[in-house]
Amino acid sequence: MEPAATSSIRSLLYIMLLLYSSLPIATATSQGDESRQANNKHVAVFVFGDSLFDPGNNNYLYVSIEGKANFTPYGESLFEYPTGRFCDGRTVPDFAATYLNLPLWEPYLQPGSHNFSKGANFASAGAGVLEESSPDRLYSQKQLKYFKEVANLLKQQLGDAEAKKILADAIYLSSFGGVDYMTFIRSISNPTELQQREHVNKVIGNFTDVIKEIYEMGGRKFAFQNVGPLGCTLRMKQEYDLSGGACVEVLQEIASLHNSLLSNVTTKLQSQLSGFDYVIFDFFNSLKDMINYPTKYGFNVSEIACCGIGSRRGFECGRVKQYELCSGPNEYVFFDGGHQSEHANSILSNFLWNGGSDFTWPISMKQLYELNSTIPIEILSKDKLLFSM
Ligand SMILES: *[C@@H]1O[C@H](CO)[C@@H](O)[C@H](O)[C@H]1NC(C)=O
Ligand SMILES: *[C@@H]1O[C@H](CO)[C@@H](O)[C@H](O)[C@H]1NC(C)=O
Ligand SMILES: *[C@@H]1O[C@H](CO)[C@@H](O)[C@H](O)[C@H]1NC(C)=O
Ligand SMILES: *[C@@H]1O[C@H](CO)[C@@H](O)[C@H](O)[C@H]1NC(C)=O
Ligand SMILES: *[C@@H]1O[C@H](CO)[C@@H](O)[C@H](O)[C@H]1NC(C)=O
Repeated sequence: MEPAATSSIRSLLYIMLLLYSSLPIATATSQGDESRQANNKHVAVFVFGDSLFDPGNNNYLYVSIEGKANFTPYGESLFEYPTGRFCDGRTVPDFAATYLNLPLWEPYLQPGSHNFSKGANFASAGAGVLEESSPDRLYSQKQLKYFKEVANLLKQQLGDAEAKKILADAIYLSSFGGVDYMTFIRSISNPTELQQREHVNKVIGNFTDVIKEIYEMGGRKFAFQNVGPLGCTLRMKQEYDLSGGACVEVLQEIASLHNSLLSNVTTKLQSQLSGFDYVIFDFFNSLKDMINYPTKYGFNVSEIACCGIGSRRGFECGRVKQYELCSGPNEYVFFDGGHQSEHANSILSNFLWNGGSDFTWPISMKQLYELNSTIPIEILSKDKLLFSM
């Protein structure tokens, strides 16, 4: 385990969160429309990823304040205290949990007992696929290691057959890659096309290894949020001093390259791994559309964040005394310079869950959930899992 903070005040706050988060929360997108809810089949969800999905795991890591969001005004729209989510309220995996009648996520690293038959959330702000992108965060192999511990624990607690069924029915929801490319651009500011391609191959290659290991542990249903429009975040626009709607093109290119390869690789995996099913949620294009046409989605501000300092409030939300904070985060696509508001997350998760737009393929997460998984009869040999890209 990672070093855990043991402050009793913090523990008390978490108990309060548990109580609070078990209350029903009414929202336009997640409640009041029965057809959108899952039926009562119970499935677990295992969440992997970076700050977009982190429910507060980094609170338990020894990382600097840049890697955390457990201070105000984070969480102000929903939580009684900041949980560590980089948002004013719920994230996309929180809404996905609501669709599946699961409670809001607790960090996997939070001390205390967890009911892993409902899944777990291993996401860590600043975590990349590659260790070299984020050595002090829960990079993908660390999250995988924790998942394996959970899977083994379930086998011990519930027996092999029951654990296998839970793992095969579970949805593996992930958001990875953004950190690897932000780190890459900070080390090589103007990479050639070849350098970009090599880096994307390395990231996707390592990510594919993680997917295959989850598959070998019995996972069958995967939901991938692809890499977002990294060059259009307000943090990057402010850092590069771009005006209007212009984005940092090199980041847009490398994110697009990643997303294209992710699509190709998942298609290939489905043809090679028996019973492998997936959905790709096109976070890149859906968020880009929201930024370009905010009013279409009920926002009026997309070029400045709700919280932070500087021309676009791109940095330092809550971290320095003089930060600015908007009064209505729901009107903003971005809560801070790099992360969407809860309102944006509710719309994005609706695309992920219901599909029915160009942003989710080949099926929706709801359809993925409804698929009856086939429990593997024999573990495929490693040779069979290998393929070239
Ligand atoms: C864990 O959750 C599952 C599914 O909701 C439930 O059946 C089980 O009783 C729970 N276990 C504990 C120890 O609460
Ligand atoms: C995974 O990343 C490492 C560098 O961290 C690289 O050497 C290796 O080739 C990558 N693996 C794949 C399958 O691409
Ligand atoms: C993905 O496949 C398409 C169609 O075969 C191809 O045009 C594209 O270049 C591939 N993407 C990458 C990043 O290799
Ligand atoms: C957003 O639009 C509403 C309604 O037109 C308006 O009342 C509000 O002041 C606007 N907010 C911002 C930040 O421009
Ligand atoms: C899955 O199985 C259930 C119960 O066995 C059945 O009612 C349902 O139609 C099946 N769903 C699909 C998509 O095949």
